[in-house]
Amino acid sequence: MAGGFVSQTPGVRNYNYKLTPKVFVTCFIGAFGGLIFGYDLGISGGVTQMEPFLEEFFPYVHKKMKNAHENEYCRFDTALISSLFASTITRVFGRKWSMFLGGLTFFIGSAFNGFAQNIAMLLIGRILLGFGVGFANQSVPVYLSEMAPPNLRGAFNNGFQVAIIFGIVVATIINYFTAQMKGNIGWRISLGLACVPAMMIMIGALVLPDTPNSLIERGFTEDAKKMLQSIRGISEVDEEFQDLIDASEESKQVKHPWKNIMLPRYRPQLIMTCFIPFFQQLTGINVITFYAPVLFQTLGFGSKASLLSAMVTGIIELLCTFVSVFTVDRFGRRVLFLQGGIQMLISQIAIGVMIGVKFGTVGTGNIGKQIGFRLVMGPLGWLVPSEISPLEIRSAAQAINVAVNMFFTFLVAQLFLTMLCHMKFGLFFFFAVFVFIMTIFIYLMLPETKNVPIEEMNRVWKAHWFWGRFIPDEAVGVSAAEMQQKSV
Ligand code: BGC
Repeated sequence: MAGGFVSQTPGVRNYNYKLTPKVFVTCFIGAFGGLIFGYDLGISGGVTQMEPFLEEFFPYVHKKMKNAHENEYCRFDTALISSLFASTITRVFGRKWSMFLGGLTFFIGSAFNGFAQNIAMLLIGRILLGFGVGFANQSVPVYLSEMAPPNLRGAFNNGFQVAIIFGIVVATIINYFTAQMKGNIGWRISLGLACVPAMMIMIGALVLPDTPNSLIERGFTEDAKKMLQSIRGISEVDEEFQDLIDASEESKQVKHPWKNIMLPRYRPQLIMTCFIPFFQQLTGINVITFYAPVLFQTLGFGSKASLLSAMVTGIIELLCTFVSVFTVDRFGRRVLFLQGGIQMLISQIAIGVMIGVKFGTVGTGNIGKQIGFRLVMGPLGWLVPSEISPLEIRSAAQAINVAVNMFFTFLVAQLFLTMLCHMKFGLFFFFAVFVFIMTIFIYLMLPETKNVPIEEMNRVWKAHWFWGRFIPDEAVGVSAAEMQQKSV
């Protein structure tokens, strides 16, 4: 099938390509990278509700169930740290080895956790899981964005979020059954089975080819061209290939991506890679992801019923993520962000009011809010930061994205219970304020990136009413006047 929609940004080229089985299968396997993150997110909330687990490791918590979220902490600390290392590995050794390392550390972590005899083993296991998630989240979105044909990059990249949600749903289903097992076997199975997605990523990474962009970056120019031809399904790839070569030449000037990303010319990417994950987390989504079982239980469901309810919610979320997959390259990132922002805003205010005046329940409200999130901040929160940076800072920018994401995940997880206690239904208004700011921010500051080839992104920034001033003319190779004609 020849592709698709064309970019409206002035000066941006639209390459020819066919949608090959190879690129499809490659991105499908690449997206497995989201499974470990999802499994990790989905399994923890349930396991920390399992009484044998708490009795074994946290007897004091077992007594006072209120601290049951404690083991979320280490995971996000280490994911944050590892994403910073991962940036160098992704750049120097290629995206696939970073994925492999993510799978490997996650695999070892799952063994430590499944066989844990004491808190130390549990902790080491969690730290390794955190490293695994950091490596995978750093490399997979970039891998997908580079492999995908420009006109379908959104859909292919959203495969990562589909895998995350899939991981969460599978974990919740597993928890549902293991929670019914007597003794310590249940939680051991739940934690130990994390080795399955880990193996899938390791095997996946071994069979996956590296992206043409990464091959060129590491000096394998001939291989890169062959790879580009085979994933685009045509031999005439000169135009796209030349853009990759140019991007690589640019990138060679940059010796220290970490120092360079601070330069004014990368200001738009730096600001976006900080603010998008910040807003993603400040929609309050992980309150639901981590605490759904706790919330349902608080509402009077038994511990099994609470997992069942969380599972049903997860399946609805999965369906919603597919809506993004099928619309993001047609309507664009901005339209989805803006409509999702409005939807989340309305639903959060409605939930806050309903709870405030004691109409409705938290359960029904959550589903509405999650739908808004899945459509927007979930998938786009990973897509946009992975596609907006030029090659020379892409790995560093993605590391910042992961680190900021993990930091705010950690912060919300830490503070949620205290905030809920003090703010009660006002907590929904608190998150609504951030959704409101996010919507305005996106409207003003994020240019449309749909259908724009990844190595041509500078042109989009150059054409933007505000960011244009930061991008030097030589970064786009066409006259500045031409670029300024159209601003978003
Ligand atoms: C977010 C996570 C969230 C997950 C599922 C991801 O995109 O980064 O924080 O838990 O979606 O909702």
